[in-house]
Amino acid sequence: MEILRTVAELRQWSREERNDGGNTIGLVPTMGALHAGHASLIRAAAASVGYVAVSIFVNPTQFGPNEDYALYPRSFEADCALAKSEGANVVFAPSVEELYSAGAATFVEVEGLSHRLDGASRPGHFRGVATVVAKLLIASEADRAFFGQKDAAQVAVLRRMVTDLRLATEIVVCPIVREPDGLALSSRNVYLGPAERAQALVLSRAIRQAEAQVAYGERRASALIEAARQTFAAKPEVRIDYIEVVDWATLEAVEVDIPGTLFAVAAWVGATRLIDNTILI
Ligand code: PAJ
Repeated sequence: MEILRTVAELRQWSREERNDGGNTIGLVPTMGALHAGHASLIRAAAASVGYVAVSIFVNPTQFGPNEDYALYPRSFEADCALAKSEGANVVFAPSVEELYSAGAATFVEVEGLSHRLDGASRPGHFRGVATVVAKLLIASEADRAFFGQKDAAQVAVLRRMVTDLRLATEIVVCPIVREPDGLALSSRNVYLGPAERAQALVLSRAIRQAEAQVAYGERRASALIEAARQTFAAKPEVRIDYIEVVDWATLEAVEVDIPGTLFAVAAWVGATRLIDNTILI
């Protein structure tokens, strides 16, 4: 498996593989510190396209000034081994300077959506995400790009971007991979101490509770949100960022008739911000 460092190399690789018998190209964008959630995306890509590129790039523009950019876990060697074993054909690992020229003045802003859910508590976050994913899609010329439902608001922002910019890439969304006890896998889980690791289960508990309420016929978002607040109240160490029931395309609040909508939570467990969600059926 090759490691590519420049946009020119990625573009050339993609064009060569496509021309070699009309193969399709898949891209799995990541920030590294790969875990079984990322692995599931790479597997899905390998099963669906001819050639798979995994990008590993800790994108500075999506971190706020007081966020964990400098501390973000980095494990490049292990990441490459995992990408290879799951079927990646290349890893694209550019430097910051390779993706952002000095004096870069062009950014992608998905209006409205970028200020909801995680965008409300992380100003500028989705501008950074949209900008880097646009660069990656343009550079890779991928037919399909694979993302996790884990970051459901990110998916909504990126779908809007691909539609609005008329990009040729199809967005494929893969299910959330969880630990056996329910905790959604996240590169940030390594920050959790043992007590915090136990407290963090309140997120997936709130998700399962909402699913059960809807299965028993609940149709009011307010009732789901109130029940989740009570569940979180049992773990006062965990600070709620948001609990929302929204339309997955617009991220606008839905009050009633909630099947098909997104139930999403974000909370601080100590200094670590975690997210989780489900599509209510
Ligand atoms: P990162 O957090 O590394 O996640 C890369 C991809 O893995 C995202 O699509 C994310 O939703 C998916 N993922 C993470 N945890 C998952 C889980 N438990 N189950 C399934 N999929 C999971 O998201 C980003 O990086 C960045 O914002 C990026 C899109 C790469 C742009 O910089």
